[in-house]
Amino acid sequence: MPANPPPQSARPGTAPSGKAPPGGPEPAPVCLGTWPTPIEPAPRLAAAAGLAADALWIKRDDLSGLGGGGNKVRKLQYTCAQALAAGATTLVTSGAPQSNHARLTAAAAARLGLRAVLVLGGEQPAQSQGNLALDYLADARLAWLPGATPEQLRDEVERQAQLVRDEGGVPFAIPFGGSSSFSARGYVDCGTELLGQLPGIDQVVVAFGSGATMAGLVASLGAERVIGIDTGAVADPGAVLAELLDGMPGVAVRRADLRIDRGQVGAGYAALTPDAAAAMRLAARTEGIFLDPTYTARALAGLIACVADGRIGHRDRTVFLHTGGLPGLFGHPALPQLT
Ligand SMILES: Cc1ncc(COP(=O)(O)O)c(C=O)c1O
Repeated sequence: MPANPPPQSARPGTAPSGKAPPGGPEPAPVCLGTWPTPIEPAPRLAAAAGLAADALWIKRDDLSGLGGGGNKVRKLQYTCAQALAAGATTLVTSGAPQSNHARLTAAAAARLGLRAVLVLGGEQPAQSQGNLALDYLADARLAWLPGATPEQLRDEVERQAQLVRDEGGVPFAIPFGGSSSFSARGYVDCGTELLGQLPGIDQVVVAFGSGATMAGLVASLGAERVIGIDTGAVADPGAVLAELLDGMPGVAVRRADLRIDRGQVGAGYAALTPDAAAAMRLAARTEGIFLDPTYTARALAGLIACVADGRIGHRDRTVFLHTGGLPGLFGHPALPQLT
């Protein structure tokens, strides 16, 4: 049985894939953040990265307001609109133990007067640090699934949704990482915002996890202006991105034109790579900007690699999308290596 209640004419947006039902009305996004987020020139980081000093900007989606901020807020504005339209009482989602999406789902639920159930793929640690501490502060209910595959996480979300129903509630399942073709509209909005803030953008560089952030940017800016830096969160990021884009009405992008750089995954999603550690130090020491080890540090390391090999030209007007995630630093096993 799907985790979400069946679509009804008065209940738009209940498809588990996150796609709005065909032909049905689509709920308007709810406002959960502070918009527009700032965009800041980063001349010292630009020079250190090999760009002209006036060619790099940081789009501060880490300052998006709710629950410590981050890119998930824009996506949740759409997903939560679907949940409210479906009469949900409880958001149910899944992620890694240090999932930023899980933390922000808990915060969004609190903001909207809903409950949150978070299915986390891992061992419950002895101490709740980083995002996990914030999940508890926001009163989320946690379910642990050590060594779970993506399918097992999905099944557990279904099981938790049934528990919510058994308790008399109405669950709404949010896909892994909060990514769906519908939630990607949050990053179509970001692309539009960027064009208003910085005309003539040549390249936007963004971390790729579950994909909707890049999908929305590609939909609004075009594939030729977006580079995704894979973090190793999904097995086949190209297929995930293509599927998200396929589900976006009116968006036609050739798969061959999509640019996902897989050179920063290193030993895997959970590992801190040497290049990511160097990127964290560089951002902190040139601009006073703190990155997280899993997403934004890889994205900056990828940007630097793109400048080094010419994929980004020295004078290209380049935006580094800061997608947040800092709480994850304080739950990462590699923290002692950085300090
Ligand atoms: C801090 C941060 N940046 C970037 C991403 C990647 O976003 P997406 O899942 O939309 O690819 C995530 C996803 O978890 C994230 O937490």
